[in-house]
Amino acid sequence: MITFPDGFLWGAATSHFQIEGNPFEIANRCSDWSAWTTVEGHIADHTNADQACEFYNRYLDDIELLSQLNLKAFRLSLNWPTLCPGPSNINEPLKVNREQVEHYRKLLTALKKKGIKTIVTLYHFCLPKHLADLGGWQSQVTVDEFARLAQFVAREYKGLVDYWLTINEPLVQVYQGYIKGVWPPGLKHCYKEAFISIRNLLSAHAYAYQAIHIEDPQAKVSYAMHWRPFAPRNKFSPLDQMVSYFRNNIFNHLFPRSIHTGSLTFPFPLDLQPEVKELEGPISGLKNSVDYLALNYYTREICQFNYQFPFDPFGIKSAASGQWTVDAMGWESYSLGLHKLLTEEMLPYHFDKNGRELPIIITENGYASSFPAQMTEGDWSLDDPERIAYLKSHLLAIHRAIKDGVKITGYLYWSFLDNFEWADGLQMRFGLVRVAFPTQKRTPRKSAIFYAGIAAINGLDDSTM
Ligand code: FCB
Repeated sequence: MITFPDGFLWGAATSHFQIEGNPFEIANRCSDWSAWTTVEGHIADHTNADQACEFYNRYLDDIELLSQLNLKAFRLSLNWPTLCPGPSNINEPLKVNREQVEHYRKLLTALKKKGIKTIVTLYHFCLPKHLADLGGWQSQVTVDEFARLAQFVAREYKGLVDYWLTINEPLVQVYQGYIKGVWPPGLKHCYKEAFISIRNLLSAHAYAYQAIHIEDPQAKVSYAMHWRPFAPRNKFSPLDQMVSYFRNNIFNHLFPRSIHTGSLTFPFPLDLQPEVKELEGPISGLKNSVDYLALNYYTREICQFNYQFPFDPFGIKSAASGQWTVDAMGWESYSLGLHKLLTEEMLPYHFDKNGRELPIIITENGYASSFPAQMTEGDWSLDDPERIAYLKSHLLAIHRAIKDGVKITGYLYWSFLDNFEWADGLQMRFGLVRVAFPTQKRTPRKSAIFYAGIAAINGLDDSTM
């Protein structure tokens, strides 16, 4: 029997756009993402999130199901675009959509009534369309509006939120939106814009952190970082080494390092360029602006120098090594990496500059399978041994890290429900619970039953080992 520390949080994670099918958002296309999905070619399986899991109207049943699965923590995000669908005058109070504000109050209250802890993200990849049109994260207006949103929701939902996350995976957003161009705003190889967004996202996080604490000094606030170990395809190639160095330094370390020190610095020799250099330097309120660490971990990545585009400091993703199981996203199941990063790579950030030890919550970790969005009832995909193996190996890695002295206090599987996986659409299924999209029927997979058993006894016993 393997037991986790008392009070360990067992839960599941989601984000609003991926599950809600928010009628107001869809009717008004008030987010960059809901507009993005209307363009042919943006979504691999030609689906969209207009309906998704209809969580907006089905949340009470879904919370019931969450509870039946013994889960005591739920990560969700607020829909910034529907809460603030139009511009606000900076000299007047923030303009909000009251109906949406009340919707989230009901949702958070329903979770609280069930004894489910809430982990609430403020920005999970979706910008209000009017801010995206002004330049999105290129613009100081977005930063200011984000801070206003943070203060507003912290006041409205005080007592209903257990953990706040300001921003989800800032570097993923920047990479997909400005380097690969597969997410809004759809720019490719735009390094300068990418680096400007990084600085603005850091600033937005710092402002939001302060704003939430003004309303609730006891609030626990962080942001969700996505970490991936990067390995060079050919370890004897200096070029492959170089691109994996840059990826690790920027993708993994840049945000936590900046928060640790309070100042943004880019790795040498990128910082020799004047446009990069001028973005460096202290950011107001940034230092130590986390009360816990939130880690999203899925896989490692093998990287390779891009001979077709040698100016790309990040190179390209190489094929998986063949050593490990690969999921439908092409992601290797590499639980060794999770242990190593918890016990070694993240070590510089375990304590803040004041010597406070920061607890760590795994805010996402999951395995994807792929089935067409049109599938309805039947026994397809309810038996998911690969997901069970993934869960088990990652939970064992976390348990080993706890034994090694790392303070990990919770685990949220991604995702509770099959949902809309961004540019991959509805076909990519991460759910513990299968969703037949045409009928919206939910059916727990075997992995859900397996995970419910772990949550019930706070560990793994002979039946789950
Ligand atoms: C993470 C995102 C989440 C989901 C998973 C699979 O990067 O935070 O929204 O798409 O990947």
